[in-house]
Amino acid sequence: MEHKLEKPIAFFDMPTQQKTIGKEKILKSLEKILDHGGYAQGPETKELEEKLAKYTGMKYCLTCSSGTDALILALMSWGVKAGDAVFVPSFTFVATAEAVAFLGATPVFVDSDEKTFNICPKDLETAIKATKEKTDLNLKAIIAVDIFGQPADYRAINKIAKSYNMKVLGDAAQSFGSELDGKKAGAFCDMTATSFYPTKPLGCYGDGGAVFCNSEEEYEILKSCRIHGMGGEKYDNIRLGMTARMDSFQAAVLLHKMEVFEQEMKDRQIIAKRYKDGLTNNTHQTVIDGAMSAWAIYTILSDNRDALQAHLRELNVPTAAFYPRPVHTQTAYKKWATRSLPVCERLAEQVVSIPMQPYLDENSQNYIIEAINSFN
Ligand SMILES: Cc1ncc(COP(=O)(O)O)c(C=O)c1O
Repeated sequence: MEHKLEKPIAFFDMPTQQKTIGKEKILKSLEKILDHGGYAQGPETKELEEKLAKYTGMKYCLTCSSGTDALILALMSWGVKAGDAVFVPSFTFVATAEAVAFLGATPVFVDSDEKTFNICPKDLETAIKATKEKTDLNLKAIIAVDIFGQPADYRAINKIAKSYNMKVLGDAAQSFGSELDGKKAGAFCDMTATSFYPTKPLGCYGDGGAVFCNSEEEYEILKSCRIHGMGGEKYDNIRLGMTARMDSFQAAVLLHKMEVFEQEMKDRQIIAKRYKDGLTNNTHQTVIDGAMSAWAIYTILSDNRDALQAHLRELNVPTAAFYPRPVHTQTAYKKWATRSLPVCERLAEQVVSIPMQPYLDENSQNYIIEAINSFN
């Protein structure tokens, strides 16, 4: 190895981010909440919602307790229920399909595109046609996941949805900050859910999420569902709902993180380009024309994943396999698997995620590139 490690490589690096923002500043904001006492959905949460709506260019932002709850709330606001088919990629984190099943609806698994790793529009049409012909399910919605931060092909997905009179929900848990055709994630489709889990591009210090929409009517339902299905009159709850508020502490942290977010996005682009240019022996995730990935995770493909990971472990380069098991093959979800999904199954065997975070210094990037290239 020509490059030497100057310090351990962090897969995610919250401490450096904390130093960049200033720990004292964060503590001061948390102390303010202790003083005003509005712990759950207080003034910080309101301020965050306004800032996030403005950032995404959407009319409404509803913060909530997690990315999973954001997905559930979005589907609830559309009245998703038993008898409804919701089309989801299988190559995703389980929460995408879980939200559908949790409401009693049927997740219909769709294969991935081999270049983008996102839901494959062609296979989506195949799945929709088969569901229409062979089942009594009501074609309700599509959840497009922006896997690893890269916007899905919303141009194609929105078109397909329109032709079947279905809704599109964006799962932007990994893609907050990404762009497509000049729009920010949150604004690519009818409604979008995101996660602020600590390792996400915009992450808090616990659990958090948000839903974005432009319809006032849907926003009012989302608000109601977030707190037990509340109505206009206190103690007259008009629908079933959840306890899905965001606490003010998480909102305060996110407000501070937004101060450095744009710079972090720029730095992620630089690192992604270095990886793309430097890792010439590997298959990379293709970013679609007109899109900018948020690069939550940088993933390459390898025919020999276990050996590559072992090689990198030896050289102190942390890696992960996101995701080694497609959702339709998992125990709780097998019952909804109607066919094999070859691209998704192959991806699950080949994906290797390498360190990607905005505070990864240039020497570490070069070391990682050299370490991967030295594997054969
Ligand atoms: C694609 C995707 N959807 C949904 C979620 C759920 O988010 P949360 O962990 O905040 O519930 C995640 C989190 O990892 C995710 O990656």
